[in-house]
Amino acid sequence: MPKSLLIAQLSDGHLGTGADFLGGRIDTRLALRQAVAHVRGLDPLPDVVLYTGDLGERGNAQEYEAIAAELAPLSMPVYAVPGNHDAPIVARHALGACMPVGPDAPDGACCYHVQHEGLHLIALDTVVPRSSHGALDAARLDWLAGVLGTCRGEPVLLFMHHPPLPTGIEVMDACSLMEGVEPLAALIRAHGHVQGVLCGHLHRPVQMTFAGVPLHVAPSIAHQIQLDLRPGAPLRARLEPPKISLHRWTPALGLCTHLSYTGDFGEGLPL
Ligand SMILES: [Fe+2]
Repeated sequence: MPKSLLIAQLSDGHLGTGADFLGGRIDTRLALRQAVAHVRGLDPLPDVVLYTGDLGERGNAQEYEAIAAELAPLSMPVYAVPGNHDAPIVARHALGACMPVGPDAPDGACCYHVQHEGLHLIALDTVVPRSSHGALDAARLDWLAGVLGTCRGEPVLLFMHHPPLPTGIEVMDACSLMEGVEPLAALIRAHGHVQGVLCGHLHRPVQMTFAGVPLHVAPSIAHQIQLDLRPGAPLRARLEPPKISLHRWTPALGLCTHLSYTGDFGEGLPL
């Protein structure tokens, strides 16, 4: 019988931005360090950490070595998928344990499958080289269909960078998952036990329903994107408080998702 699982989701740290990034008002390496410290300070401690992409900014080896060093204090397993700012092959050299890609991965993509306490965690690589939008091509969808077939009747959680639905932030909607959306939805519906889909990319917390299951978009652990739903609104960043998503999964209830702010807000006050 599957047990419950506590999952910390980090996203879009963009480590490697220059000192002049956003006018020098944010240090993305420090943002990752604070997110890691926040996770380590949680009680109970999460069982697993999922990092839903844009770990680096330029996707070079120095960035991933720094990311590996910052993630090292985490005692629980950490699993990552690449985002459009990442270089998946380069990332895997430094973050191999966080991207346990097997020999069956489609065309060398960063797709893999692990299991924790009866919950299957399936990582989907949605990166299109040199593009900001995402895609799931036939090879990746075929791989997913095969994996879902091996966990028939058992709970599954999917995680990937690009959200498969528009949110009304037009600039970001234009670079979401642009290929493979309907086949992905069909696979989720056919499996029948998918607990949810976890994404990043938007730098905002968003909750939707996709193919009848919860779709959660995690905020950034660094900088957020301005919430602006006007048609044609420009893309702007905001230094809103960074946060992580904390998912409490139970076999009976599925996902219960909290947002947890990584800053220092002091001790809890008695009420
Ligand atoms: Fe990002």
